[in-house]
Amino acid sequence: MNKKKPDLSISFCGKRFINPFLLSSSPVSNSAEMVERSYEAGWGGVAYKTLVSDRIPITHPSPRMHPYHCGEKKLVGLQNVEQTTDRGLKPNLRDISYLKKRWPDRIILASIMGFSNDEWAELAKACDAAGADMLELNFSCPHMAVEGSGCKVGQEHELVEKFTATVRKVTRLPLVAKMTPNLADMSVPALAAKAGGADAICAINTVKGISEIGLDDWVPKPNVFGKGAISGYSGPAIKPIGLRFIAELAMDKRLGLPLSGVGGIETWGDCLEYILAGASTVQVTTGVIHYGYRIVEDMIEGLSDYMAGRGIASVEELVGKAVGRVHDTGRFDVKRQGSARFDLERCVGCGQCYIVCRDAGGFALEWDAAKRRPRQEQDKCLSCMVCSFVCPVDGLISFEEMPSGWKRRPTVTLG
Ligand SMILES: Cc1cc2nc3c(=O)[nH]c(=O)nc-3n(C[C@H](O)[C@H](O)[C@H](O)COP(=O)(O)O)c2cc1C
Repeated sequence: MNKKKPDLSISFCGKRFINPFLLSSSPVSNSAEMVERSYEAGWGGVAYKTLVSDRIPITHPSPRMHPYHCGEKKLVGLQNVEQTTDRGLKPNLRDISYLKKRWPDRIILASIMGFSNDEWAELAKACDAAGADMLELNFSCPHMAVEGSGCKVGQEHELVEKFTATVRKVTRLPLVAKMTPNLADMSVPALAAKAGGADAICAINTVKGISEIGLDDWVPKPNVFGKGAISGYSGPAIKPIGLRFIAELAMDKRLGLPLSGVGGIETWGDCLEYILAGASTVQVTTGVIHYGYRIVEDMIEGLSDYMAGRGIASVEELVGKAVGRVHDTGRFDVKRQGSARFDLERCVGCGQCYIVCRDAGGFALEWDAAKRRPRQEQDKCLSCMVCSFVCPVDGLISFEEMPSGWKRRPTVTLG
């Protein structure tokens, strides 16, 4: 029997996307030639690289990126000092017009950043005339060389409201305000954007950071001819931060706007987590920089298989499904307790579990040196589960709920 394929198409700000997967605004979306190749791979749309007026010509620092590797894992993070597009406004607008005519079913968010009120208005009008489907207002780049722009705006809610309202006055296109994570409470600028007329919120732009300092020259990386900076950090390491902000915005009843989730996405599972947290569309940069446009094939196939396996007809059914499951920790049922369970048949005798149990405050493991095996006193186990995090054998140590009334033996104190 030929079962109906799950429907990945989704509505966002009144537009229908063939799927929720978009390139985020960055070097991966910097020209028609690039965007066209991404469309051929299957991306549903693009937040085009941020456009600025030609009044202040942009020259990027060199080098403009630095990779953060973690042990064997390459590029768990990416540090960048890149600015907005360094291509002229005219060729970019021509590219947007071309893309819209050639690929009418793909959605273009034209990302813009003004350096004055008038520039916000001019850029919005120009992108509207070029045929963009919506505008993404960049209130969030953390390392702009032009004073008083980027996340400096995003951190001042009056400015967010003012510039959003300026753009709202000159166009009827849907407005997506892109937020900086470099603040404590994103609801403040997000509500200001709503007050100014924004139709949706996008989060997050890069996290301010220093991923590495040269041990020989003491310069933060990327080392731009002897100078470093606090700059934008992206990639898998920031996914927890992006998910947190999307979930918080989705839970905020005052906001009630659709969300576009960005930050650390590489796989279909990452996309799904953002969707479950409340995003209707998801955006990617570092994953594409690392692996290329082709990662969207895994996103389409993986999400389709997941939905088919669960009998979910439309991706829209999944949006925000985790939101009701995010609670204050005070609401946890702490009467229910568990502990680590060991399947010692598969133990390779490395002793990592024993070391971390002692040094992370557990004291529930002894080490049988003759047999090279841990010996567990289960009633002392804190259920921190760090033993399972370091065990080289997948699934050897699992979490097990203890019977009701089970009591943990207190840790012995000296003296
Ligand atoms: C090299 C680079 C350039 C970027 N340029 C822009 C930009 O022009 N406008 C913008 O809104 N975001 C820009 N971003 C931020 C990304 O769009 C995205 O929000 C961020 O990188 C987090 O997503 P990721 O982890 O998938 O990279 C840039 C990111 C990188 C790495």
